[in-house]
This record gives sequence, C-alpha cells and structure tokens, in this order.
Amino acid sequence: MNEELKREDPEIYDAIYNETKRQAYNLELIASENFVSEAVLQAAGSVMTNKYAEGYPAKRYYGGCEFVDVAEDLARDRAKQLFGCDHVNVQPHSGSQANMAAYFTLVEPGDTIMGLDLSHGGHLSHGHPLSFSGKYFNIVHYGVSRETEVIDYDQLLKEAFEAKPKLIIAGASAYPRTLDFKKFREICDEVNAYLVVDIAHIAGLVATELHPSPIPYADIVTTTTHKTLRGPRGGMVMCKEEYAEKLDKIVFPGVQGGPLMHVIAAKAVAFKEALKPEFKEYQKKILENAQALAKALEEKGFRLVAGGTDTHLMLCDLDSKNIKGLNGKRAENALEKSGITVNKNTIPFDERSPFIASGIRLGTPAVTTRRMGTNEMKIIADFINRVLEDRKNEENRAQVKKEVKEFCKKFPLYKNHL
Ligand SMILES: Cc1ncc(COP(=O)(O)O)c(C=O)c1O
Repeated sequence: MNEELKREDPEIYDAIYNETKRQAYNLELIASENFVSEAVLQAAGSVMTNKYAEGYPAKRYYGGCEFVDVAEDLARDRAKQLFGCDHVNVQPHSGSQANMAAYFTLVEPGDTIMGLDLSHGGHLSHGHPLSFSGKYFNIVHYGVSRETEVIDYDQLLKEAFEAKPKLIIAGASAYPRTLDFKKFREICDEVNAYLVVDIAHIAGLVATELHPSPIPYADIVTTTTHKTLRGPRGGMVMCKEEYAEKLDKIVFPGVQGGPLMHVIAAKAVAFKEALKPEFKEYQKKILENAQALAKALEEKGFRLVAGGTDTHLMLCDLDSKNIKGLNGKRAENALEKSGITVNKNTIPFDERSPFIASGIRLGTPAVTTRRMGTNEMKIIADFINRVLEDRKNEENRAQVKKEVKEFCKKFPLYKNHL
C-alpha cells in the first residue's frame, strides 16, 4: 500500500507500516480506542483535507465549498437522526474542544462548574487544573461513594447546594456503571444549573439505545466520534434549538478556525454505518464481551471497581491479586511487552499517583470490532492473568506475545494493508 508515500517519505511510511502491524498483531484493550472501517479510513484520507471551509454549509467564508457542504450536511443530518437531537455541530476537532464549546456557550470564565473527579473516572476537560477547564472556571469536583464506588446522587445534590454551580457536567472516561441522566437533571433543576453531558465513551451505546440517552435531559451533549461510535478521531456537540446559534458561533470562530472537512466526511460515513441494524448488533456484542471479560477476570481473583460493569469498560483493582510490587504502571508495561495494550488507571480513593495508579482500565470495543466473542474474552483474561502473575519472567512474556500474535491472526483487521 501507499507506494507514493514509500518513495517520498520512507520514514513516515515505515512508521505507518509498523503501526499497522502493531494494530494487527496486538490485543487492543484500551477502552477509548476502536478500528474504523475501510470506508471511514478512505474518507479521512481524502482530498477534502485540502479545503478551507470556515463557516457552515451555505454560509462559508470561502468559495468552492459546494462539495464539502454536501459532506457536512450529511454528517449533521445523520447525527441528528442517530441521537434524536434538535441541533448538532460536527466541527469540533476533538472531545476536549467539544467540551470547551459547551462551557463557553452556557457560562462565563470564572463561573463555577461541577465535574467528576479525574481520579474517580472523570476527564481532564471536566476541570483538571492543567486543562483549560480548570484554568478558566472555578471547579468543584464530585466523586463516587467509597462503599459502592458509584455516584451517590443524594450526596451530589448536597454538594451542589453548597457549591452553587452554574453548570454540572456528567460523563466520564473510567466509570463502568450506567449514568442516571434524569437524576442529574433533577439536581441541576434544584440548584438552577445547566446540565452538560459528555457521552464520549458511551456514544455508540447511546446511539443504539443500549445506554439511556441524555438528549431529553441535557442542555448540551458532547461526544467524541472515535470511541464506541467507531468513527474518525474528532468531536461533536448536540444541543437544544435555543442554544444552536450561540453554540455554532462559539465553535467557529470562538474556539476553532477552519473545520477538518476530510474528518467531517469520515464522520458522515461512520454515522451512516451507525444507523444500520448491524451497528446495534455490534454494540450488543461489546456489552456481552465486557460481561464475559469481567466474569473471567473475577474468576481469576481480580476485583472490579463498582463490582463490575454495565458498559464497554471495566476497572481492575490490581491490589486484589496480592502480587508483590504490582501496580498499574508495571501491569501496563508487562502487558505491553506481551502484546496486550491497556492503560494504567487510578481507582477511586487511590493512594498511588496517576503515574503509577492501582488499576488498569480495559474495554471491549476494539476486540469486538475484530469479531472476537465471549469465548475469546476468556482466553484474553487468561493471557492477562498469566502475564501479571509472573510479570518479571521474560520467557513467560515472550510466550504470551507469541500466542497473542497467533490469536490475533485468526481475527484479521484490514485487508491489503500489510
Ligand atoms: C469523557 C471524555 N470526554 C472527552 C474526552 C476528550 O477527547 P479528546 O481526546 O478527543 O480531546 C475523552 C477522551 O478520552 C473522554 O474520555
């Protein structure tokens, strides 16, 4: 593939080739990753990357936009159909920029925002001091209950009464249980706050009604398009009609310049795929696989945060295995050397820093795209356990890596890329 690239820039060609091999022969368990279709890849690699299109369809600041307008209109129409929202903006380059646009649409710098603590599953853009969100807004965090490791909505209401936020953001990067958006709305109504819901992780489940939708309750809903939704890397914002005009002005020219039209075309393709009945079957399998992986890990003695999962992801508390010296960082390293990609993750009330962490986060969207099923989840749990129980043993890791490669070959990813 890519003969032109090979000739022009062999170093980048090699990097892409090696990444293609890495994806093909390793087990991808990072909960926020997925593999897009060939059609999405083609749109994302298309000539639409050449086009400046500041503005919106039929209201651009540049000529020659008739065909990129087709792509953006299709992306918008399909997203509206998929999520049942009044208005959508498909231009945000990322999930963080989608959140930035949501905040600036509803509140002013200096206002108080409540978001889930990063160490309890929240995202950097929900108020971390190093993120724009923590710098521009007064952030008050809420967390999960120590006993249940899920959000205690009564406690959240109490804290919201004290903090008097202008906006509460619901949504998470590492929260395995169902979020109750109706409860969030009730709390927001009690304290007179706006509700923003970030469904970056669960967008595919929401689109297929396998997780309750926040659309009826939230003022604004943000998402990424590249996780369970299985589209190209990017963001999107949905809102009620009353915020549409302001939101569009905040996205452009407020926080972004020219939209990435090749990515918007690829988003349109992914949304078309997501509207098909097969996509719902895919999302159901993600959930079945998550249940199977969770059960198999528990059988091997791993404790799962919040007692398991309702979604595509789970958090494994590594201390539960009592393996001397094991922590999230070491587990991530040992697994990577064995062909299994995960990320270290803090667990609620973690005493270790986020750079070390006591847990790993695992998700099933990517392996499910490869058509692995519940039997394969048992095999994966066994690979993980073998590596972690003897993580310093190089031979053990090499043996698992070899087996992982053979296992992956049975579930080919892209044809004609290697
Ligand atoms: C809940 C949530 N929101 C937002 C984002 C940010 O997305 P991006 O990395 O595209 O900025 C993420 C990314 O992991 C996320 O998990």
